Amino acid sequence: MLEMDILEEINIKGFAEEDIDPTLDLYAEIEKLKQQKNAVILAHYYQEGEIQDIADYIGDSLGLSQQAAKTDADIIVFAGVHFMAETAKILSPTKKVLLPDLKAGCSLADSCPPHLFKKFKESYPDHLVITYVNCTAELKAMSDIVCTSSNAVQIVESLPADQQIIFGPDRNLGAYVAKKTGRDLVLWNGACMVHEIFSREKITKLKERHTNAKILAHPECEEHILQLADYIGSTTGILKYATNDAATEFIVATEAGIIHQMEKDNPTKTFIPAPPNNTCACNDCPHMKRNTLEKLYLCLKNEMPEITLPADIIAKAVKPIERMLDISAQLGL
Ligand code: 13P
Ligand code: SF4
Repeated sequence: MLEMDILEEINIKGFAEEDIDPTLDLYAEIEKLKQQKNAVILAHYYQEGEIQDIADYIGDSLGLSQQAAKTDADIIVFAGVHFMAETAKILSPTKKVLLPDLKAGCSLADSCPPHLFKKFKESYPDHLVITYVNCTAELKAMSDIVCTSSNAVQIVESLPADQQIIFGPDRNLGAYVAKKTGRDLVLWNGACMVHEIFSREKITKLKERHTNAKILAHPECEEHILQLADYIGSTTGILKYATNDAATEFIVATEAGIIHQMEKDNPTKTFIPAPPNNTCACNDCPHMKRNTLEKLYLCLKNEMPEITLPADIIAKAVKPIERMLDISAQLGL
């Protein structure tokens, strides 16, 4: 919190978006800075299209972690949210990891405060702890294995059938994994604010007007939305499905940023964002969308805001993340 206040203070003194010369070609400047500083830009599919277009690598949480672990860049600029940049720092602790906006958080990570999860974990002493990567570094440090939406099912399946498991923080992904694997998981009651806003009624009506459209959903969606889906998967999975499937129309039940890449890869196909309920205007993640091209430029230029973590948290959190990466590599994911 203190660090954020200091950064805001610094912004006032000349590091703000408004201070950028409007005649600057930000794309060219970012490219130049990347070369000078041996920096790499990793971007999540939920970022603005213009950020995705300048990234060296765009991917889902698993792909981004794999890239962060293997890059030989000196600086990683993480165009995503805080827990993703933290994961990159944990995997590459000697590198400088930058996040364009330090306030780019995650409602799902926030739904699981570490001190409460610690108590929860203590009430299940014989259980193994699997945490979805969308959580704080402190939570990862309390976990046995981390997972992402693209490997959660396989990670649970890789464990002995009689192994008791706590799964957190996403109750929707947890319920989906429990259903797919037939395992009785103890779930933390957390959720993502974006994936819980879809309206089953409106999606059903939309489908009546687009009878040939396939419905694609992220497993962070609620069960009643997943029931409507032709395909359920991570953002990379959704993108691949839309590219490989013969259908030409798709209703997309996840954050709308993914549609940028879907349209780029499939210019002849139509992608319709799944309608949210009446309380929301769109499917944008307010945290992901805090990052802008201007903030990306400033963070690379000024080499801040930087992600820092205590050494003991890094030492503990790296183990469950590496365990995930090892299982994923064995499974060819
Ligand atoms: P994936 O890109 O791993 O599917 O994750 C989605 C998400 O909600 C990231 O915040
Ligand atoms: Fe977190 Fe949901 Fe935003 Fe992903 S889409 S960063 S889970 S709030």
